[in-house]
Amino acid sequence: MPSPRSASPKLQAALDEIADAVNLTIERLLPESEDAESQLYDAMRHGTLGGGKRLRPFLVMQSAFLFNVPSSRARRVAAALEFVHCYSLIHDDLPAMDDAALRRGQPTVHKQYDEATAILAGDALLTLAFEILAEPETHEDPRVRCHLISALAKASGGHGMVGGQMLDLIAERDDVEFDVGEVSRLQRMKTGKLMAFACEAGAILGGAGEPQRKALCNYAHDLGLAFQVTDDILDVEADPQDTGKDTNKDEDAGKATFVSTMGKEAAKARADMLVAQANRHLKIFEGRADMLKELAEYVLERRA
Ligand code: IPE
Ligand code: IPE
Ligand code: MG
Ligand code: MG
Ligand code: MG
Repeated sequence: MPSPRSASPKLQAALDEIADAVNLTIERLLPESEDAESQLYDAMRHGTLGGGKRLRPFLVMQSAFLFNVPSSRARRVAAALEFVHCYSLIHDDLPAMDDAALRRGQPTVHKQYDEATAILAGDALLTLAFEILAEPETHEDPRVRCHLISALAKASGGHGMVGGQMLDLIAERDDVEFDVGEVSRLQRMKTGKLMAFACEAGAILGGAGEPQRKALCNYAHDLGLAFQVTDDILDVEADPQDTGKDTNKDEDAGKATFVSTMGKEAAKARADMLVAQANRHLKIFEGRADMLKELAEYVLERRA
């Protein structure tokens, strides 16, 4: 899959560097297996390696940088979060959910293997994420590890990504109509919560004060929403060669998106407004958060 267009050379270099480092960490945490159940590990590797923009790892590493957290620790948290994200995509693509055949330019996990293997690969990635966070290499202080585990659990579960996915499916029903406020809540849960964890993780690892932690969470919530608005716009206007997934899936499934509720142009204006708002939250960090600011701008321009 081509790397995302429109990032400045500096942002692109930072994205590439973090993606390479996180890919190595994922490779190490998820070795090939010779055991009888090796198909499970092959499917987990298929769903996590070989593509992906690695934006959530980027947010973890950049937020950790603000508090001088050693990158070896932040990389473990970045990989754990990427495992949760990839599990969410594997399950999102299943026939019972979005029924998608293509992801990151490759067959989705249930197409490459089968549905049961895709369900199990997702389950195993989710639990592996928490195993990684619980290990002392992530942080020597067990309170910090517990804080990370609790924050990721909240972001992933019924009040976070999984709850958002439920709303996303409920909104497909003919007898249900979501307004813009309801779509915002859905998107904040299904996409925003994991992005907020990405930024909060750096603050937790670095023992940041409340104002810094809050500023990052606010940034991430606006960024996550803008990111999902762009995802909805790309579903109607992107080139599948760039995104590595099929287009027009949302309208075909009758999803409630910003595009379906307010139209494409108003959705673009909303994303612009959200990114400006996101970056205002970063003032507290002055120049140290420049990469996070650039990332937010890139989220508007991305074609992949
Ligand atoms: C896709 O996320 C799912 C959404 C939350 C919109 P990404 O666009 O970050 O997917 P990858 O990881 O780069 O493939
Ligand atoms: C998925 O949102 C968000 C998740 C929590 C996985 P979408 O269904 O819009 O993501 P894509 O478009 O399939 O990547
Ligand atoms: Mg979906
Ligand atoms: Mg989908
Ligand atoms: Mg989508």
